[in-house]
Amino acid sequence: MILKGLVVLLALLLLHKSINISYSLQAKTHPFGTPEFSSRKCFLHFFVGFFFSCCLQRYLKHFMNKNKNFKIVFIFILIESQATHHPDLRQDVFVKDEYHFLNVPGIRTITVYDAFDCTFECLNNPSCFSLNLAASKRADGTLWCELLTSNKYINPDEYHENKTSHHFTYCYGRFRPTSSVEYGQQGAYKDGIYKIYDNDGNSFPAYCDLKSEPGIAWTLVMSWSRKNRLLPAFGKAVLQINAPENEISPNWDRYRLRLERMRSLQVHSTHWRATCCYPTHGIDYRDYLRGNFKGFNIVDFLGNSKCNRVEYVDIRGHKGTNLNVPFWQKKNAWMVHIVSSSDRCKFSASIGAVGSEDNFGFYGQINQKFRCTQAVHSTAQWWFGAHLKKLFPEY
Ligand SMILES: *[C@@H]1O[C@H](CO)[C@@H](O)[C@H](O)[C@H]1NC(C)=O
Ligand SMILES: *[C@@H]1O[C@H](CO)[C@@H](O)[C@H](O)[C@H]1NC(C)=O
Repeated sequence: MILKGLVVLLALLLLHKSINISYSLQAKTHPFGTPEFSSRKCFLHFFVGFFFSCCLQRYLKHFMNKNKNFKIVFIFILIESQATHHPDLRQDVFVKDEYHFLNVPGIRTITVYDAFDCTFECLNNPSCFSLNLAASKRADGTLWCELLTSNKYINPDEYHENKTSHHFTYCYGRFRPTSSVEYGQQGAYKDGIYKIYDNDGNSFPAYCDLKSEPGIAWTLVMSWSRKNRLLPAFGKAVLQINAPENEISPNWDRYRLRLERMRSLQVHSTHWRATCCYPTHGIDYRDYLRGNFKGFNIVDFLGNSKCNRVEYVDIRGHKGTNLNVPFWQKKNAWMVHIVSSSDRCKFSASIGAVGSEDNFGFYGQINQKFRCTQAVHSTAQWWFGAHLKKLFPEY
């Protein structure tokens, strides 16, 4: 028994020390990226999960069930570790909201004896960001504990008062998402308007598409209907100039973010895409364009009929994957677009085209067979996005 106790104490000292080490690692590698969020609040999640899963968990749990005092010592050391290095963390590992229930898909429901067991399980599960816990015990003294992949900030509509449940949220003091990707990463799964922060730390509402292409989260950068095609923002304003339209109320008819916010989203994105009639047709890859910023930076590009790399293109059913396509973008003349009437760069969509047909922007000549310009109310969208990362390696 004494030997066991010593082993555990040694392990705890190691843990105490390592939390500090993991803090500096974590500040660099945390997938959420925003420094305030990752370094100051969430380092514990990663570390405790990893450390316990690989070596200590089973032994500690066994020991704890036998020895209630140990639990108290453990909590003390954990809190003390945090408080020493980061005094503001003391109360921030979980925020408790009494008599609340978050109605989102759970990872699993387990049976526990108290709140500590439940939060411990959550810390130990890399995709757990909050939990519901029974407000009262069953006859046998146990509680149900439901681990959730998302939280109340991301799904406010699903968060309600509830007499039978308490809700705990993990480390969310400074969540400042800089694109839809971070929402997707945190388990948001509904399309709609989300609060996003720009590089200056100011928030703005933006439309996030989290569903149409599984594993990729897209933020809307601009959208306009054919009837607004002559406005400068959708005609002659190149992407690298500032030409905001209705930027605080995202809509499909007339919307373009100001330049700084496009830039900020660009920094946090790897990909861009253009879609036609997204609000009515969703994504079926008809009249669709996608590329990555590494292969072709559409914001900074200027040129006429330059061949640039795209991942996927479809214009009126003429498709191609990983190929060069001719793009145009000229200051005070036309925003980024493709001209599909003659075959260039080995991409051929001239069959069925109209003379000098413009696609995905600057509609000088329009073709009603191209979905973005089919009718006066047809819309086109540009988006920036990125693949969701696997949050943590499997272990
Ligand atoms: C914890 O890390 C800081 C730097 O982040 C370092 O200055 C300090 O000495 C470390 N403390 C221990 C106990 O390792
Ligand atoms: C209240 O919580 C219970 C679980 O304790 C859940 O089954 C029920 O759907 C919740 N009711 C509402 C209105 O959210």
